[in-house]
Amino acid sequence: TILVLDFGSQYTHLITRRLRELNIYSEMLPCTQKLAELPFKPTGIILSGGPYSVYEDGAPHVDPAVFELGVPILGICYGLQEIAWHHGKNVLAGEKREYGHAALKIARDGSDHTGALFKDLPDDMEVWMSHGDKLSKLPDEFVTIATTANAPFAGIAHSAKKYYGIQFHPEVTHTPQGTALIKNFASSICGAKQNWTMDKFVDQEIERIRALVGPKGQVIGAVSGGVDSTVAAKLMQEAIGDRFHAVLVDNGLLRLDEAKIVKETLGKQLGVNLTVIDASERFLAKLKGVVDDPERKRKIIGNLFIEIFQEKARELADAAKGSAKEGEIEWLLQGTLYPDVIESISFKGPSATIKTHHNVGGLLEGMHLKLIEPLRELFKDEVRELGTTLGIPDELVWRHPFPGPGLGIRVLGEVTPEQLRILRHADSIFIEEIRKAGLYRKISQALVGLLPVRAVGVMGDKRVHDQVVALRAVVTTDFMTATAFEFEPSFLRTVSSRIVNEVDGVCRVFQDITSKPPGTIEFE
Ligand code: XMP
Repeated sequence: TILVLDFGSQYTHLITRRLRELNIYSEMLPCTQKLAELPFKPTGIILSGGPYSVYEDGAPHVDPAVFELGVPILGICYGLQEIAWHHGKNVLAGEKREYGHAALKIARDGSDHTGALFKDLPDDMEVWMSHGDKLSKLPDEFVTIATTANAPFAGIAHSAKKYYGIQFHPEVTHTPQGTALIKNFASSICGAKQNWTMDKFVDQEIERIRALVGPKGQVIGAVSGGVDSTVAAKLMQEAIGDRFHAVLVDNGLLRLDEAKIVKETLGKQLGVNLTVIDASERFLAKLKGVVDDPERKRKIIGNLFIEIFQEKARELADAAKGSAKEGEIEWLLQGTLYPDVIESISFKGPSATIKTHHNVGGLLEGMHLKLIEPLRELFKDEVRELGTTLGIPDELVWRHPFPGPGLGIRVLGEVTPEQLRILRHADSIFIEEIRKAGLYRKISQALVGLLPVRAVGVMGDKRVHDQVVALRAVVTTDFMTATAFEFEPSFLRTVSSRIVNEVDGVCRVFQDITSKPPGTIEFE
């Protein structure tokens, strides 16, 4: 096991991710972890970057036992300064903060020991820097192994012990040789085995869930039919069977036949203990008359969802008490992924709320449910791989995301049953054609928006005055920025003509080609 000690860098999770890509098992723990309390002995330790300065009062420092364990240590950015701090405290505030690309020059002295980190790597490498402080002087017994124009000690190594420090970030993709460097450290220097697989992750997670929940504990969780909640639900089902209760709240804003499909796949095919609650009428009643305030729509949908989920949770909890299973419902499953964790953290800060994303966490008042988040360390592509490992069908694993507020934020203006009928139908045609053309996996997310305006058209010699829909398809890796997908004109003609001919109430089809930013992916 490689132990990653986290000093709070926004990139720390990428270190564990790179290690997983190398099939190396790692555990990430807070930087202040006491080593005596670890249930395992690490084969190597990586100290992450972080937002502090080591010389400041109150700056976090590792348990000094880290330097007595006798295992290799790699310090990245703040981690490098932490190593220097423990070897003479020669760290100073940099004259200027340094962000972005830098050209790294490797300094080789011919020794296998000091050269081990850059073994088989080119002498000139492009790297990514993001730091304010730098070393003012080489710590005693250390040698320089790499430099950049701005950082004379961009890489250092202890002359005898296997301690290495680098100022740049090998874990980000902007450092093209970064994974190879991490491999040199973890595999060659630490001797970590490259035998970790997703199957092992499944076994470990199942064990962890069982230990956490106990032999009788019960868990509830909301599912949506999306990848994340499906994968999380299937994992729970594998771990504790019917003691996991999945709840799908049909808010009336789902896509065509969605509740039916979830019942069929998640409930029947995957064997998850699923309850579907049809709450469409309650949602539609509350949305009546809400015309032009998207945030109000989102709040109404989010709050009612929580209310209904809570009612069901209480009901299930009461039933569970008297049941043969005897355990109480103590846990709430959340399919939160690592990127959601970052986004929700930034939402709490001073940064502006662009949109209120709805989220069940912490909101089940009075029930004191504890959170269980088995996907918390994973990135989207890893969740997909996990889904495949769990035997979830491809159509589900590769599904485009669908927002919690559903079609409610794609009907611009008032949400009514009639508007939903039009949008649902147009959306199903667009997605069907995308699948037919083999484009579904090339597009990150495709959707239709229903605009609250009418245009004139002529159909069957008659004048019509009907609504306009907008097609939107984007390509993105992280959903924070996105560009419009470029369709062939013939594809767009097919979709346009099918929608106008088949969907009552639509006489024009537009395409939204705005990128994000300045647009957002959804319409509201
Ligand atoms: P935007 O519109 O902000 O969307 O560019 C980015 C991604 O997030 C999805 N989205 C949501 N997902 N609850 C969700 O679960 C929400 O309230 C929500 N709003 C947007 C959107 O579909 C896209 O994938």
